[in-house]
Amino acid sequence: MTQHEPTTASSQAAAAAPGDAPNVDNAGTHETWTGLGPDQGTRHRYATAAPDLGHEAPESGVTGGPRGELWRGDNLGVLTAFRGDFEGRVKCVYLDPPYNIRSGNEHYGDRRGHQQWLEFMDERLRAIKPLLRSDGIICVQIDDAEMAYLQVLMDEVFGRINRINTITVKMSELSGVKMTHVDRRLPKIKESLLVYGGGGEVRIHAPRVLKTGAKFERYLKYYGKLIVNPEAPVHEWKLVSIREHLQEMGESVEADALRAFKIKEAHRVVYRTNSKLMSSIESDTPLKEVTSPTGIRYIWWEGKEMLFLSEHMHETLGDLWTDISTINLNKEGGGDFVNGKKPESLLARVIEMCTAPGDLVLDAFAGSGTTGAVAHKLGRDWLMIESGEHCETHIAPRLRDVVRGTDVAGINKERPSCVRGGTFSGFELTRDESTRAS
Ligand SMILES: C[S@@+](CC[C@H](N)C(=O)[O-])C[C@H]1O[C@@H](n2cnc3c(N)ncnc32)[C@H](O)[C@@H]1O
Repeated sequence: MTQHEPTTASSQAAAAAPGDAPNVDNAGTHETWTGLGPDQGTRHRYATAAPDLGHEAPESGVTGGPRGELWRGDNLGVLTAFRGDFEGRVKCVYLDPPYNIRSGNEHYGDRRGHQQWLEFMDERLRAIKPLLRSDGIICVQIDDAEMAYLQVLMDEVFGRINRINTITVKMSELSGVKMTHVDRRLPKIKESLLVYGGGGEVRIHAPRVLKTGAKFERYLKYYGKLIVNPEAPVHEWKLVSIREHLQEMGESVEADALRAFKIKEAHRVVYRTNSKLMSSIESDTPLKEVTSPTGIRYIWWEGKEMLFLSEHMHETLGDLWTDISTINLNKEGGGDFVNGKKPESLLARVIEMCTAPGDLVLDAFAGSGTTGAVAHKLGRDWLMIESGEHCETHIAPRLRDVVRGTDVAGINKERPSCVRGGTFSGFELTRDESTRAS
């Protein structure tokens, strides 16, 4: 994870980083940003701190944690100002622009002509391109209305050769208003993620998810034993029936409870299967560790091979994502920004697919702030830009909750390891360089 150091002469020699603190006057309010020096912090020559967006700093003496910058204003101007500081530094760009489907809400508009929309996207994609690391990834979410046109545009801006995937994501349920027109068109429940690389060698971590389906449920039933003491040497392991273990503990043995327990304790939930290699081995203990001639470690269990559920319950995802829940999004990040808000679990998947802790993530259409919130929770630095008032009313409070650790919704529910702490600062442009001739 990156460290947040106070600004000193020597740290000024280092590249500017998101979240570097603005000057604070004696009254404790933020003053105009004065920059980090002639060659540093060029974005701040055109910017001022925005105290209403907040400046969450670590407690005195606490360093480290993710850092973020929340920028209010038109993204084209801000992206242009970023060029000096962030050229070639962003590992992951996630964009969720207005889809041009006249579906804006009280928070933002979505009503452009087709040509106008393409020009709007073209300018912004070209402003983003220099910021992307050569091994970085840009991922743009879009629905069918402009998907094909946007793909051609992205082929042109980022190079067709750098197109990595076009992922289809299930984004809604077969219910509600869309079901009233089924006699005219099939209900639209999917969107696309257009994924491009930065031009260099790109590596992704293919997402792995819990298997589902009847086949897996049948397979799960085989796993009936629990290792009570997995920390002991193998020959001392004590195996008990999971059902009996739960009954002894006074817990439910209903199918759902049994399943949940197995998944939670998967690293010590086992069953045994026939194996030629194992049946040829003799042992004076019921359990022992053996190594195959090719160096693979097995657990011999009375002439059979021990299988651990944890090693057989995940599968690699392809480019069809149907498992992300899009219901109850109002509970994520609070506020009434519902239309257009994306699930935290979707952003977590994208961010984990193409970054590591400490990497820099950028979202130029921040909306309710999902990208920054998730990046922060996952220990990544972030930059977000939003032109609407919800920058102040929704994003800033959401990120304050994340930094303070009071946001317990979204991905926090499945991940106790979500990061708290770190810092973020708000800014807005005072001079728009995107309109100047270069
Ligand atoms: C679909 S929403 C993004 C939702 C977001 N992914 C989330 O999970 O909350 C698109 C956002 O882009 C913002 N936006 C549109 N044009 C913009 C521009 N030129 N500069 C900055 N933000 C812009 C809108 O105000 C809106 O909040």
